Amino acid sequence: MKTKILMVDDEPEIINAYRRLFFSFKNVWEINFATSGAEAIEFLKNNEVDVVVSDMRMPGMNGDELLRIIQSDFPGTLRIILSGYQDEISIIRSLSSAHQFLIKPCEPDKLKVTIENAYALRDLIENKQFIEFANGLDELPVLPQIYIKLEREFSKEDISLRRVADIIEEDPVISAKILQVVNSGFFGIPRRIADLMEALNYLGTNLVKAIILYVETFSVKNYPEAESVEIRKIGKHSMKTAEIGRVLCKLKKLDKKSSDNIIISCILHDIGRLLMIRKKNYLNDVLEKMASDNISMIDAENKLYGFTHTSAGAYLLGIWGLPKEIIEAVGFHHNPSAINCEADCVTGVVHFANAFANYSKSIFNFKEFDLDLEYTQKFISEDEILKLWKNVLYSLDNK
Ligand SMILES: [Fe+2]
Ligand SMILES: [Fe+2]
Repeated sequence: MKTKILMVDDEPEIINAYRRLFFSFKNVWEINFATSGAEAIEFLKNNEVDVVVSDMRMPGMNGDELLRIIQSDFPGTLRIILSGYQDEISIIRSLSSAHQFLIKPCEPDKLKVTIENAYALRDLIENKQFIEFANGLDELPVLPQIYIKLEREFSKEDISLRRVADIIEEDPVISAKILQVVNSGFFGIPRRIADLMEALNYLGTNLVKAIILYVETFSVKNYPEAESVEIRKIGKHSMKTAEIGRVLCKLKKLDKKSSDNIIISCILHDIGRLLMIRKKNYLNDVLEKMASDNISMIDAENKLYGFTHTSAGAYLLGIWGLPKEIIEAVGFHHNPSAINCEADCVTGVVHFANAFANYSKSIFNFKEFDLDLEYTQKFISEDEILKLWKNVLYSLDNK
């Protein structure tokens, strides 16, 4: 069955551009158009619509107002807001009305990913406690500008690594940090990488993008001291998880695409904690709850706040428009059994990498790993897990 989409924009040229752009999706999407909020509501009264994609700035009724009406009168419809990237204030204000955001220009592939993400994150956006929390934040971490520029470059047909390197080199601080991470031993590169072109050739564009996300997301320039300490810790743990994730990909002989997704997910898996630490005494309260009720971290977060760092992270990456596999891995890295995840799927491997990264001892007691038993028992025996851990330790020692 085709997904029924209603696109709302007051500018006829944009509507015409959409018609041309989305023509190739005609077999999977049925797209209708409206040029104002009032016209959109009229259409919804008479037609079934799965997804509404609305421009933010329109005369009369703006996108946020339109989506609020749809939220109350047509609650089964997915709501996506389209906005210029700089329009962050509107984005934050419209948090509770839109399931998902899309930054202009709206290309078909991007819309496809956004719709998939919106479906995946639907429960969270309907979670009142989370919405209240997200609305109360002064600002959400934003996708680094340099990453957006790179995405634009990658969307071109003739990608040039030279142009990619030029874009990154425009920012000498990021360039230097990338080379620092590349040469830190993490990637096990036997010789020193001297410049960005070499880094791009050696690691590929996906991993370089992941490193950009890492250095930018965990940069502590804008945070108070207490939070900075916590962010550095999370950053260190994330890099360790990625290092173990990389070893697991090698041991399991996974292909390049899965491996890249796994490493990026490992780097970002706890990004939701950057939001959670804005809650007063977050870490202490969670640790206390875990100890007093003898429960896991996400159960403790759920009991205390009604949502978890995993869903907060998935939400943030949804806004950033990252691929569904990565959002899913971040959203379920503590409980892959909650989704229909196969052995060695991205989420499953990130789950192991995180559990191993949290377990730094060389003791081989299966029960000490914080693993999702329902998931692990389906695919792997206790002995195999211990063997895997031994191999990981060996690989890390002999890098
Ligand atoms: Fe986590
Ligand atoms: Fe973690």
